[in-house]
Amino acid sequence: MIFIAGATGFVGSHLIDALLKEGHQLRCLVRSEKTAKSFHEKGIEVVRGDITEPDTIQGALKDINFVIHLVGIIEEKGSVTFQRVHVDGTKNLVNEAKQTGVKHFFYQSALEADRGSWSGYLRTKAEAEEIVKASDIPYTVFRPSLIIGPWDGFTKRLMDIVKMSPVIIPVPGDGKTKFQPIYIKDWIICLLKVLSSPELFSGIFEIGGPEHLTYNEIVSSLAKAMKIKKSILHMPMRLLKLGAALAEKTIPVLPVTYDQLRLLENDNICDKDSVEKHFGFRPMGYKEALSEFVRT
Ligand SMILES: NC(=O)c1ccc[n+]([C@@H]2O[C@H](COP(=O)([O-])OP(=O)(O)OC[C@H]3O[C@@H](n4cnc5c(N)ncnc54)[C@H](OP(=O)(O)O)[C@@H]3O)[C@@H](O)[C@H]2O)c1
Repeated sequence: MIFIAGATGFVGSHLIDALLKEGHQLRCLVRSEKTAKSFHEKGIEVVRGDITEPDTIQGALKDINFVIHLVGIIEEKGSVTFQRVHVDGTKNLVNEAKQTGVKHFFYQSALEADRGSWSGYLRTKAEAEEIVKASDIPYTVFRPSLIIGPWDGFTKRLMDIVKMSPVIIPVPGDGKTKFQPIYIKDWIICLLKVLSSPELFSGIFEIGGPEHLTYNEIVSSLAKAMKIKKSILHMPMRLLKLGAALAEKTIPVLPVTYDQLRLLENDNICDKDSVEKHFGFRPMGYKEALSEFVRT
């Protein structure tokens, strides 16, 4: 049986559909009662719990061979910090896995994860990777760039901006930062390969689509897919960061945080052939992927 933590998110929900289609038996960690009910109806075993609260996941991995750990946050809110969710949460799950004899542990990190990063998100992703590596359980870590599909948070937010902005589409900074979006269907193909032959995929894998695209190119392609004609207006990054830094002190929920703006200044790319080299197929390009799920 496979255990999934983070099954209710964007990546997780696509993954469970694919795994159920293949006839896998699943046990998922779920926080809300409503989701627990809908998972039960799909024939999924449910553990109600939170990876930051070790008591709630005690015994959750009994009879589990393969753990898929997708839990992550992109923004800290009060006591829900990167340290607590990424580092402490991973420690809790790995401890359980060690006690119950899990055979393989999959962890979803992020491209550019680095212990020395200024970004709390990337620093704690790297710390979580180290916890997984040190566990002595055979492991696979994916470090993806942007994963796109119906409905990832990034595309959803960008579509709202494209739709709502009058006449122009505001882009933070010069828009030249590069990304390497990978379509969710291709990410799933990679994961299924790991699942069927975990011994062939042990270690850390950078995961990205076949193109390096600037933020400007991403915005233009998305607007085109939505059949919306608007020009791009570059907003001075310094001013936006100042605004975000000030607003963070006063407004509890922000459209974008200071750190997220800083992340938009750092390329998020790997080898264009990374998926083809390691997983033996060419992933879909950005425009083609958009044409599969963006409706006007
Ligand atoms: N999407 C991307 O482009 C991308 C790129 C690189 C890396 N990643 C990584 O891939 C993973 C999945 O991404 P996603 O886009 O699917 O994220 P998502 O939609 O935000 O889903 C996050 C998942 O984590 C769960 N979660 C959060 N805190 C938890 C906690 N304390 N205990 C248990 N579950 C908790 C959420 O459960 P609830 O439903 O209960 O909130 C949800 O199932 C994340 O680790 C993310 O950092 C994503």
